[in-house]
Amino acid sequence: MARIIKKAGFAALLVACVSVPAAISGCSSTGETAAGADEQSASSIGLELQVGGGLKLAALSYTIIGPGGFTKSGTLDVSNSTVISGVISGLPVGAGYSVSLSGTTSDGSTTCAGSASFSVSAHQTTLVSVHLVCREAPSNGSVAIDGTLNICPIADGITATPSEVLVGSTLTLSALAHDPDNGPSALSYQWSASSGTFSDATALAPTFTCTAAGTATITLSVSDGDADASCADQTSVTVQCTPTANDVQAILNANCISCHSGATPPRGLTLVDVRAVIGAAAVGCAQKLRIVSGDSAHSYLVDKLLGAAQDGGCFSGKQMPLGKAPLSASDLSLITSWINAGTP
Ligand code: HEC
Repeated sequence: MARIIKKAGFAALLVACVSVPAAISGCSSTGETAAGADEQSASSIGLELQVGGGLKLAALSYTIIGPGGFTKSGTLDVSNSTVISGVISGLPVGAGYSVSLSGTTSDGSTTCAGSASFSVSAHQTTLVSVHLVCREAPSNGSVAIDGTLNICPIADGITATPSEVLVGSTLTLSALAHDPDNGPSALSYQWSASSGTFSDATALAPTFTCTAAGTATITLSVSDGDADASCADQTSVTVQCTPTANDVQAILNANCISCHSGATPPRGLTLVDVRAVIGAAAVGCAQKLRIVSGDSAHSYLVDKLLGAAQDGGCFSGKQMPLGKAPLSASDLSLITSWINAGTP
């Protein structure tokens, strides 16, 4: 509650009723005639401000506009008091005055403002009620939720033609995929493989080159540009990379030719060029061939690597490589698949 009290002959009593949403109340707007009026000069008003209800104004500024271009404004420091008094002088008698009050609470959280009109009459006290409306400054931010919807793409499959090639040779891949909502971007492709190389790992239909014997798992990832990587879809295909004589020779070079080379190799078997062994008769088991192209089960060289006759028939001597650990399963499988593929 704020009261501006005219104490002089031209008396005006302003009562500011402060209204704060939900928090500050208790305004009593019953103005009272200033006691002891008429004891000061005829051109001033006394101002008494009372702020109640827990509202603490740091400062209250006022502006009085009157007839004939009269204006008067100032600031009242009310930070340390709930009751403030002041003297506003020089208000000529007349009608058409207005007073505007505005203030801010000490913590800056609430601003109050209001205005009212009044007249200044000689030897009278004018009661003016000023309704101050106070608003709390926003203390909460807001977030705009702008939802977007994207249907993820589907990787339908991969075609590989052919699905088997020799190591070092190339096959053609093609991606089959679709995006139900065709967005946000055009489909993009990303190829990867357990072994081997692509002509272009992001093309729709790249070529693939086998670089290692055995099965290569080729994976296609299809994205529609969604920032969430999990939206991309994957599909895989396996292709066969058939070993060549070169791949087999590499194993023999590492494990066999230390013995099976030179002028007098064991059993007359030189393994410096595996192609020369194809179709050659074994010495330890004369009825067998060392390598039967297309038939590893009847190739004596495989018997020797296994340490036993696969057909339960003739077997002579020891398991190869002599005096060393048997070949690894993958080396053994490379050799048998090369033989079964027709010794390419
Ligand atoms: C340390 C020497 C040594 C190494 C290494 C060795 N061999 Fe032999 N290999 C022999 C000897 C000695 C014989 C003859 C005795 C026998 O058959 O057990 C033989 C015999 C063979 C025979 C039988 C030939 C025939 O016609 O009877 C084959 C096949 C063979 N080796 C393959 C291999 C292969 C394949 C490797 C490598 C994975 C290998 N050897 C590594 C010493 C070796």
